Amino acid sequence: MASYLRRLALLLAAAQHAGAAVVFTVPREAHTGGYRYAPLDPAPVGISFEFFAFPSYFSNVSATTQCLSNWKDLTGVWPPIRIGGTTQDRAQYDSRTSAYVVYSVSNPADAPASLTFGSKFLTLAGSYGGSVVVGLNRGKNNIQNTIDAAKIAVSEVGNLLAVELGNEPEYYARNGQPIAGGSWSPAADAASQNNWGILVGSAVNKAPIIQAGNSNDSPPQWGAAELIATENATVKQYVKTYAHHNYPGGSVTSLMSHRGISSNLHVFDADIAAALKEGKPYVFGETNSVSGGGAAGVSPTFGAALWTMDYVLRASYSNISRTYFHHGTVGNCQYCFWGRYSMGAPYYGAYAATALLAKASFLTALDDGTTNYAAYVSFDSKGAPLRVLLYNSDYFSGSGSRSSQSFELGGLTGSAVNAKRLTAESAMSRIDQNGLVSFGGQTFTNGDCTMAGAEAVEPLTVTNGKTTVTLKASEALLVYLQ
Ligand SMILES: *[C@@H]1O[C@H](CO)[C@@H](O)[C@H](O)[C@H]1NC(C)=O
Ligand SMILES: *[C@@H]1O[C@H](CO)[C@@H](O)[C@H](O)[C@H]1NC(C)=O
Ligand SMILES: *[C@@H]1O[C@H](CO)[C@@H](O)[C@H](O)[C@H]1NC(C)=O
Repeated sequence: MASYLRRLALLLAAAQHAGAAVVFTVPREAHTGGYRYAPLDPAPVGISFEFFAFPSYFSNVSATTQCLSNWKDLTGVWPPIRIGGTTQDRAQYDSRTSAYVVYSVSNPADAPASLTFGSKFLTLAGSYGGSVVVGLNRGKNNIQNTIDAAKIAVSEVGNLLAVELGNEPEYYARNGQPIAGGSWSPAADAASQNNWGILVGSAVNKAPIIQAGNSNDSPPQWGAAELIATENATVKQYVKTYAHHNYPGGSVTSLMSHRGISSNLHVFDADIAAALKEGKPYVFGETNSVSGGGAAGVSPTFGAALWTMDYVLRASYSNISRTYFHHGTVGNCQYCFWGRYSMGAPYYGAYAATALLAKASFLTALDDGTTNYAAYVSFDSKGAPLRVLLYNSDYFSGSGSRSSQSFELGGLTGSAVNAKRLTAESAMSRIDQNGLVSFGGQTFTNGDCTMAGAEAVEPLTVTNGKTTVTLKASEALLVYLQ
């Protein structure tokens, strides 16, 4: 009875609050107000390219360089990239080939079952202006080949951040990879990672150089804490970063839910803490909405764009230094941000997140992740607030009436601020199906990723340090404070 009455009281309170504004107050300075603050990488939003497809993206997909340079225009640095994935463990270095990659597939939509790559592959990686992580093979258990490739990576890739030794090793046994012959387990993999880390690191005479971990199954069974517990000082000196992969999956509604995003990221808290305790960055080395190239009904939608935005911000707030969104087979990639012919809606979410984080040193979240409404604040190097991003993750399918939520933002100075809206007709809008997605009224052109249209800035009046703004279901707003 008591619990029934309590529930009734909560329901009545919720009903009364329907329509009431969500209230957030911007701290006057970083490290104040009782919030947690994450230090930021210069470019937390990165891209992962499937190993065999990497040369195609840079030599045969016009949008690639422009899409990356649009973010550089905001942040001042090229976004970080990682080259790897399942095909890194199917690839062998071939010193004799003059090609980037050599493979054959019966259908261009397929990924190759095996391939070789030449030094030109690494020269191409070295021509990129941002930091590069190169994923090398461990599955085939041919360490000399991996050392040969790592040496070329070190000499050819001027911006080399790290090399990975294997991708998602928990699947090695299932995939018949030779290194997992006999028995395979987290402990067997950790011993193998440690052994290879020392051998490869000492062969290239570089420390730290290894991006360790790279599992996809959730911690704690596979993950940084589990791996670190097996490492001695000799291994640790070679480890540059700890990486995990993550594909939350689900429906558009569950994927874009702010509450869902927040709880998905808490799975990694202990691993992040374990890496930071070692003084090493923790990254999402490969991630996207739904595994296996994405889901057609989910990954290309505007809802997935909103997921991309909120997810990379929540990850950064959780002290995940960089988040590399995976890009697979060109022409067969539901979650890709761009392709040869069409933009993907998720690019817009990543763009809005990059716009919040650009040239910022700290990030905080003003919400606790338990509702559908979020607010993030970025701060400059002196600790002054730069921008605020507000997110209404209520789902709008495109049919029926679209709800809205008002947000009251306090702690502001001056009499006005400007804002840009990230919006679309609904959470189900897809650019490849003629849906219109825009950020600040602007779009990115199919095929070449150039920005188009007139910038639409919304002026918001500030009265007594406060402004109130309405966000429709499935919308976000970036407020510029400086
Ligand atoms: C480039 O793309 C075209 C169009 O899909 C394809 O026919 C060609 O083989 C590609 N070339 C390379 C080097 O990937
Ligand atoms: C550190 O661990 C590696 C195996 O991971 C082992 O080969 C090496 O001998 C150990 N070094 C020390 C100093 O204990
Ligand atoms: C992130 O790391 C900083 C220290 O650099 C710490 O103060 C903060 O609490 C951490 N954030 C979270 C969400 O744990």
